[in-house]
This record gives sequence, C-alpha cells and structure tokens, in this order.
Amino acid sequence: MMQPGEASRTTTTTTLPQFPKSFWLESVDAIPQFPSLTADLKTEVVVIGAGITGITTAYLLAKRGVKVVVLQAGRILEGTTGHTTAKLTTQHGLIYHEFLSHFGEEKTRLYYEANHEALMFIRQTVEELGIECQFTEEDAYLYTSEDAYLDQMQNEYMAYAKLNITADYLLSNPLPFETKAAIRIKGQARFNPVPYLLRLIQEITQLGGQIYEGTTVVGATHEQPSIVKTKQGHQVTCSHVVTASHYPFNDIKGAFFTRLHAEKSYVIAARTKKPFPGGMYINAEQPTRSLRAVTIHGEPAVLIGGEGHKTGQALCTHQFYENLQKFGEETFGLTEILYRWSAQDVFTLDKMPYIGQQFSDAPHLLMATGYRKWGMTNSMVAAMLNMKIILGEKSPYEEVFTPHRFHADPSIKTFIQQNANVAQHLIAGKFNLQHKQLEELSPDEGAVVQVKGKRAGAYRDPNGELHVVDTTCTHLGCEVEWNDAERTWDCPCHGSRYTFQGEVIEGPAKKALTKLAAE
Ligand code: FES
Repeated sequence: MMQPGEASRTTTTTTLPQFPKSFWLESVDAIPQFPSLTADLKTEVVVIGAGITGITTAYLLAKRGVKVVVLQAGRILEGTTGHTTAKLTTQHGLIYHEFLSHFGEEKTRLYYEANHEALMFIRQTVEELGIECQFTEEDAYLYTSEDAYLDQMQNEYMAYAKLNITADYLLSNPLPFETKAAIRIKGQARFNPVPYLLRLIQEITQLGGQIYEGTTVVGATHEQPSIVKTKQGHQVTCSHVVTASHYPFNDIKGAFFTRLHAEKSYVIAARTKKPFPGGMYINAEQPTRSLRAVTIHGEPAVLIGGEGHKTGQALCTHQFYENLQKFGEETFGLTEILYRWSAQDVFTLDKMPYIGQQFSDAPHLLMATGYRKWGMTNSMVAAMLNMKIILGEKSPYEEVFTPHRFHADPSIKTFIQQNANVAQHLIAGKFNLQHKQLEELSPDEGAVVQVKGKRAGAYRDPNGELHVVDTTCTHLGCEVEWNDAERTWDCPCHGSRYTFQGEVIEGPAKKALTKLAAE
C-alpha cells in the first residue's frame, strides 16, 4: 500500500485552477439578491450575518412567529458557509478526551448531545422541506497514519466510551493508503449547504422575515429595546440582537478579539483515478487531511481539505493548495482539479464555541462564534440555543456554551500565548523591511512595498493596473500581509481580511484600508 508523503512514486498530471472558487456557490443557478436597508425599521429580533448561523436562527424564529430582520454587510452565504467541506458529524477531531479534562463529563456530554441534535435537525429539515442538497448518510472516521498518535487515539476512544458515544476502534478502514488506526461513528452525513440554506431563506421571507445585503452594522445600544445602527445611517429598533458573524461587531466591552483567533484552511475538489471508498475522513495529526465525496456535474469527485494556519501568518499561501494536490495525487491519483477554495474559521481559547448572552448586563444581546472548523453542526446548536434564550425557554446547553466562561486551564495560558503572538505581529510588522519595489511587480502579483519611505501594500492586476493600500489594519493597527493564493490582504492579529483594493471581506475590522496613490 502507498503511504501519503511518498512523492517520488507519482508525477503531477493536473493543474490547480488559477482563481479560487467554491463549488457550493457555483452549484446553484443563482444566489438571490436582497436590497440594502434604506429606511428605519422596527422588528422583534435583528440577526447580524447571513451565513448558516444567521439564516438558521432567522428561520427558527420566523417559524415560531417572531418578526426577524437579517442584516448582512456583503452578500448572503459569501463567508465560511459558502466555503466549508460541509460534513455533518459529531466527530470533531481529537476533542472529547481534551474536553473531558477541561469541562468534565456532564458538559462534554452536553456538547456531544447538542451536536447530535443539530445533525438530526438538519436531516429532519431536509426531509420536511424536501430539499435537494446532496444530503447523504455517511460514516465518519478519525484516523491516524502515525504510531505517535496511537495513544491519543486510544484516549479519544475511551472518552467516547465514557460519554456513551457509539463508535468502533478499527485497525483498518476503506482508505486506499496505510493507516494505523481509526475511530468510526456510523450514521453521520454530508450535504451541499447552499441549496439547503437557499430553501430556508425562501421560508424566512414567506414567513415575513426580511433580509438586507450591503448593510454593515456599526453599533447597537445596550438598553432594551436596542437600536441597531448601520454604517449607511439607518437604524432598526428591536428587542433582541443576535450577532452571527465571526467577531462580534460591538466588541469594545467584551474584548472578544483577545479571546478568539482566526485560521485559514484550504480545499480542492478533484476527479480521481481510484474511486473514493465512501465515508468521511479526518486525520488526527498535522497537517490536517479531510476527505469526503461530492457529486459535481453529475460525476463523482473528492473534496480534499486541510493545511490550516493562522490567518495572515503564512508567506506563500499557494503552497497549501499544492500540498493538498500532492496528497491527492499520492493517495487517489488525480485526473482533474475542478475547484479550489479556502475558508476562515474562528477558535476560542478553550475550543468550546461562544454561544449565548454577550454581556452580563444586557441579556438581549446574543452572539455565536468559535466553531473551530466544525460549523455545520455547531451553527445549528447556536441557532437553536439562541432561539430558546430569546423565547425564554430553558436549555441544558446554555451553561456549556456561555461566552462568559473563562477557565483557568487552558484559557489563561492560551490567552497569554495568543496575545503575545498578536503583540509580536503588531511590533514586527512595523519593522519588516523586506520590501519590493513597485516597478518590480509583475501582472497578478502583490507584495509589501515602500511608498514615500513607508510600508504599503501593492497589487498589480492582470491588466497592469496598480492598487496600493496602507497596510495598517483598521481594527487595531497590525500590519496586513499579502495572500498570494486569494489575492487578499490578511491581518495576522485577529484575522481581518481585505480585497486587493482594501475593502473589508471579513472583520473584526469594519473600515477599509486606506488607498494610496501609486506614485
Ligand atoms: Fe485586529 Fe487586524 S484584525 S489588528
């Protein structure tokens, strides 16, 4: 059997697409457009963010007869939701053993049960609404190819047993390369989130919910009723606000950006020589390798994901796609790479999502973030939990996910490490002298340059036009770095991302980078 990493046995026969594009977003005829908010409104609940969390929250509330308004800064589904690998599973990597030691048995079991309910909810919704979204039941496998991870695999399996999670410990699995051990959970699933969510959006609007795109929220008052203010100068008065974006938009008091960090990861969708054996896979070791089947244009293909790293902290992002391509060629043999795309995910200090009341003195301001790459089920957990809090219903999950927790172990150690890393980038970025000259930039090349003796960012587009921006991140002043695979400026401190023209793609930044003249 071939081993991943045995590069000499294979030759590259495929090329990566020049530009990133998500298959999910391309798989539907059209993504509906919604207007910007151009007047003041009154409603019961404002949901900020139209990804899977925001849309599901709005859907659940609308179904219960609550008046809801969804505000999205850019286009719906354009964030992580449109760029996931879309696995629906309670198997979230090596996590249950770690959670047992940090949170104890009861809370860890509740984490599992909440995610299991989330999986059941999606299955039921797909059936109830008859949604065609490639929902397919699959077994999930956590595997390792390294002896060094066997103890951790055993510990994880024992944690499953303690939590009554039905699973099998296997010494072999269907993958066509050698592995040392695997843990299988049966009856999980995969789907395409875009047609699924478009159907929920249809339901929301039919139930009287309103969705606005191109509407950036800049603040919300702490009193109830709260007034949500938009950058465009309008306001929505409401009884509850749910922030369903990676970083809470009103984060002065909570300082959540010091307790969260953003990571990028990558996906390629490819046709393979060897047929995919079925199942969904993720390895225990680094670099991450995530595998699942998908149907593209009626033919089978494989999604190969992984290669996570902190946003803005990689010198060459193309290498991550190339590593996935190499892995695919060595394991399944690739005949064509159809798509490549990346996703950004947010991690909390203790790896448990923050869901629920954002401020202790404002119970009507709710949040949901920190899914650690397992957003397909955790987003459902968030939507169901925040709906219950709004409706005044009890939930056993409230205490598990509360954003107010701050455990000494491991949070404080991770807090110090994380913010030392931010401080390092804040200072080092200012003195990074490895600049290119503007005239050295080729078409479709970006780099840090010097303009009038100051650090700036420049991208020469394929037509030769230069786009120059001040590289000072508008969030807290770290220096953004060039992401060559996506043609974006990414901040290494808290993960803000900007287009090559400086417009915000992802927060916590709200303001665009300052444009500079090219001379
Ligand atoms: Fe916080 Fe850039 S995202 S400084």
